[in-house]
Amino acid sequence: MIAKDIVLTADRPTGKLHIGHFIGSLRKRVLMQEEGKYKMFVMLADQQALTDHAKDPDKIRKSLYEVAVDYLAVGLNPKITTIFIQSQIPELAEFTMYYMNLVSIARLHRNPTVKTEIKQKGYTESVPVGFLVYPISQASDITAFKATKVPVGNDQKPMIEQTREVVRTFNHTYQTDVLVEPEGIYPDNKAAGRLPGLNGNAKMSKSLNNGIFLADDADTLQKKVMSMYTDSNHLGMEDPGQIEGNMVFKYLDVFGGREDQKQIAEMKEHYQRGGLGDVQVKRYLLEVLNRELKPIYKRRKAYAQDLGEIKRILKKGSEYAQAFAAQTLSEVKKAMGINYFG
Ligand code: TRP
Repeated sequence: MIAKDIVLTADRPTGKLHIGHFIGSLRKRVLMQEEGKYKMFVMLADQQALTDHAKDPDKIRKSLYEVAVDYLAVGLNPKITTIFIQSQIPELAEFTMYYMNLVSIARLHRNPTVKTEIKQKGYTESVPVGFLVYPISQASDITAFKATKVPVGNDQKPMIEQTREVVRTFNHTYQTDVLVEPEGIYPDNKAAGRLPGLNGNAKMSKSLNNGIFLADDADTLQKKVMSMYTDSNHLGMEDPGQIEGNMVFKYLDVFGGREDQKQIAEMKEHYQRGGLGDVQVKRYLLEVLNRELKPIYKRRKAYAQDLGEIKRILKKGSEYAQAFAAQTLSEVKKAMGINYFG
């Protein structure tokens, strides 16, 4: 039998997940799970979240449960996919300890994503060590599980690249092949860009208050869709309207299924010609979104009421993940010749 591909993905738990996360990554994870040809790990990266939230562990803990509920609601099945918590796997920190010796500080500073984040977070004067080092810790997350495929956003390309370097350096330095070079899997075209916010802002985010969350009920969803940014020149229904930059059509493009394509094309044409009101298009979008989100919301509500069950799932997943990481760690220490007691 050929060994299955091992897939590892993760999220920093810093808030509940929105429909941009769903379309960009969660949906693909569920599809991969259903394909049945991968061994899958999904990690809640609470330690990585702490690298820039050290003073706010409360927020991370709360978000962690929210994200776990989101995972289950979209259809990740803990019987097939191991869902676990980074901080509960002490082995990961030990990998990082050994990998740190193989990466220079200059190399970390050259990582483009880290560079951008340092600016965004105002760390230019003094970067927390833990933050600077997180790409190495991410290499630990990936290699501890011998992941071969890592589905991530485009902003994570530099992390995959650094992980591959760590693997090559480690294997070369210790003349071994215990570590596996992972391959990044990046979003396909349709979902490639980030989903913009309801107000047309380039990014959907909790802090900008412009998102639709998986935790939003039907009423909230309706209010949000009805408040979406369309075309500020489309005042009267008879006026010709614009599709470009119109969030309602943008979302229809992203969320419409094959069965919606004809209707969407017709609406676009009608809208540009004039005579189609915003409210009608919004109603249609609401229908499309509800089809996808209603079942998720329903499952979410059920899980959210049973924190005990969520904790049991996460504990079980973490125990399994720890055993797996411990096995790889023992191979790593053996390769380094520091397995003193056999
Ligand atoms: N850096 C990732 C993010 O911000 C989260 C993450 C942590 C991750 N460890 C990982 C992603 C390992 C893939 C593999 O979204």
